Amino acid sequence: MADKERRPRERPRREAAGGTPPEAPEPPGNRADQFRGRALSRRALLAGTASFAGLTAAEALLAPLQAQLPSVPEDPTRVPGTAPSPYGTRAAFEQAIRLATASHSLTPLESLHGIVTPSSLHFERHHNGVPLIDPARHRLLIHGLVGRSMIFTLDELKRFPSVSRLAFIECSGNTAGEWHEPGGRTVQQTHGLLSTSEWTGVALATVLREAGIKPEATWMLAEGSDAAAMTRSIPLAPVLDEALLCYAQNGEALRPEQGYPLRLLLPGWEGNANIKWLRRLKLGPAPFMTREETSHYTDLMPDGTARQFTLVMDAKSVITNPSGGQRVRRGFVEIRGLAWSGRGRVTRVEVSTDAGRTWQQASLQDPVLPKCATSFRLPWRWDGRETVLQSRCTDETGYVQPGREALVAARGVNSVYHYHAIQSWKVSPDGTVENVHV
Ligand code: CO
Repeated sequence: MADKERRPRERPRREAAGGTPPEAPEPPGNRADQFRGRALSRRALLAGTASFAGLTAAEALLAPLQAQLPSVPEDPTRVPGTAPSPYGTRAAFEQAIRLATASHSLTPLESLHGIVTPSSLHFERHHNGVPLIDPARHRLLIHGLVGRSMIFTLDELKRFPSVSRLAFIECSGNTAGEWHEPGGRTVQQTHGLLSTSEWTGVALATVLREAGIKPEATWMLAEGSDAAAMTRSIPLAPVLDEALLCYAQNGEALRPEQGYPLRLLLPGWEGNANIKWLRRLKLGPAPFMTREETSHYTDLMPDGTARQFTLVMDAKSVITNPSGGQRVRRGFVEIRGLAWSGRGRVTRVEVSTDAGRTWQQASLQDPVLPKCATSFRLPWRWDGRETVLQSRCTDETGYVQPGREALVAARGVNSVYHYHAIQSWKVSPDGTVENVHV
């Protein structure tokens, strides 16, 4: 059905009336320079992603995007509009896309507004692809140190009290390209493994109470039904108040790539622990030491030891506009960005427009919710001189997002995961913005 809807509509009457099809308007935002006439310039996009491994996927997405652009009437008040449709799609002129590789895709943070990520642009990270699951046949097994083992269908889970909350999910590998040299060109490439949704499901505590938690149960194994059988050990006490077994995202069923029909949500915890396609929870007296917490998802320290079970995402922020690959114009610029912390609410975001010499407090946009992305903004006047823009987040525990030097001094450069240092965007006199380490 989607393909049919996306086919360009037949050339309308106005051509017969002698009108020349006008050029499609340029999409709003800072990416206008990437567009040439009616279509996203293939060369511009390829140049823009030259350093990104997802080139092929991005390239493959270009053809359908170009095919979608409709011809536009001179005056929309003179032509009847289209009829309602069973399932909506965005305007054909809107071209923000995820950049995808075989194993992950990145959210285009610089093109989004507010805090909620459209479900279709939520980042993805799969360990062996997106499984195809029949919700009618899907089951959740709960066993181990419980009073009685139980198996739930989705319908049974949906009969429990339904809980909704907004929460970010961030891959622990987000910004991993920044440990050594500036890696990503754009904020999508540096920070795009971060997205925020309204999640709906049943509280984990509600379902576990039904099975009965034995006193010696302190850890929980969560297992997905993907081809990797993605499996993590979760300490029970810190998550029991907040964890959800989710069946919905932004008002509708989960997207397949977000775990349809059931996923675990652990607000503030690293993305991979939020097990998608959830099929099994086993309670035990100790961590289960799966490959995901031995070979993967540990953080190598300079002394050769590794941090393990680093599950909570540290306070972090990034300026999304202006950001790498964009162009700043002289005069008034509203600096905009996102801040988040896995430990609670964001209490303050400071922005520097002079490479960290001075800091100004940014405005936080309501709602400011715990373990949820928070929008910030600061009015600025650019005088045309070279400078560096930075943001710094403080959360309700008093933790302050570190600079690069402080983070590297504490953890070295081999952690791979949990890079959350202050991001620097250099603005050159010609207005171009690039990722730098200062
Ligand atoms: Co970790």
